[in-house]
Amino acid sequence: MSIIIDGKQCAADIRTELRTTIEERRQSGRTVPGLALLLVGNNPASEVYVGSKDKACKEIGMNSTIVRMPESASEEEILRMIDGWNHDDAVHGILVQLPLPKHINEMNVIMAISPDKDVDGFHPVNVGRLVIGLDGFAPCTPAGIVELLKRYSIETSGKHVVVVGRSNIVGKPMANLMYQKYTGMNAIVTVCHTGTDDISFYTRQADILIMAVGVPHLITPQDVKPGVVVIDVGMNRLEDTSKKSGYRLVGDVDFQSVATVASAITPVPGGVGPMTIAMLLSNTMKSLERKESNR
Ligand code: GUN
Repeated sequence: MSIIIDGKQCAADIRTELRTTIEERRQSGRTVPGLALLLVGNNPASEVYVGSKDKACKEIGMNSTIVRMPESASEEEILRMIDGWNHDDAVHGILVQLPLPKHINEMNVIMAISPDKDVDGFHPVNVGRLVIGLDGFAPCTPAGIVELLKRYSIETSGKHVVVVGRSNIVGKPMANLMYQKYTGMNAIVTVCHTGTDDISFYTRQADILIMAVGVPHLITPQDVKPGVVVIDVGMNRLEDTSKKSGYRLVGDVDFQSVATVASAITPVPGGVGPMTIAMLLSNTMKSLERKESNR
């Protein structure tokens, strides 16, 4: 039987560590970190995500504010809001929830955020820093996965990591982190994507398999090597009339069957998901610390 990697517990541990740090800061009269969240439009999933991020900040004593703009907001209005936060000393992290309405150029918005406050790690300056191994902000989901592997003492050095998915938010930064010459990384990396003919050929060679494609139950036991470590980033809704919501969340991996052959595996929900918000909080704390030490 495999180890179930408990992301919920790891995330709770990180939040407790941060709460202690922030409490100590508050008691000694030092600056407390602040996160500004921008939500444009009425995407129901984005509403939930932004609400969870705001709540997580408040629970650890971090300052946070949500600004909501209508679907009709112009790019100029969004850029003006970001510019204000870039110059606001009480704001250490800026997060614009994606996706944005179709008429807004997402890259223009991302590039308007100061790289020093870009706690999502989406600004090209932070992407470049990550690739060449400089200190900066790594996107929260990949950073959370590195943290999970570390906290479970899973060896990555010299191991073959197969990443399935090449999104800017998960796949690309994940692959670029895993081959860095640092402790907790230093892996051999293969990236599979929609242009890969026989994904199973590659996934069967993985020591660590990271799935981020959004296809429910794509991976079954015949697609993995016995003893593999499986990290499932998938968050897919499957209709389930026995649930009050009418659906249940499943990953890109068929958890029940793959858990019988893997050495360790993340569940969905309760695996990678909770780590994303924990790393957002951690990046916001880091932003304040970098500012104080002029890094
Ligand atoms: N939309 C989906 N995931 C994310 C994320 O990590 N950050 C932001 N800003 N938007 C998202």
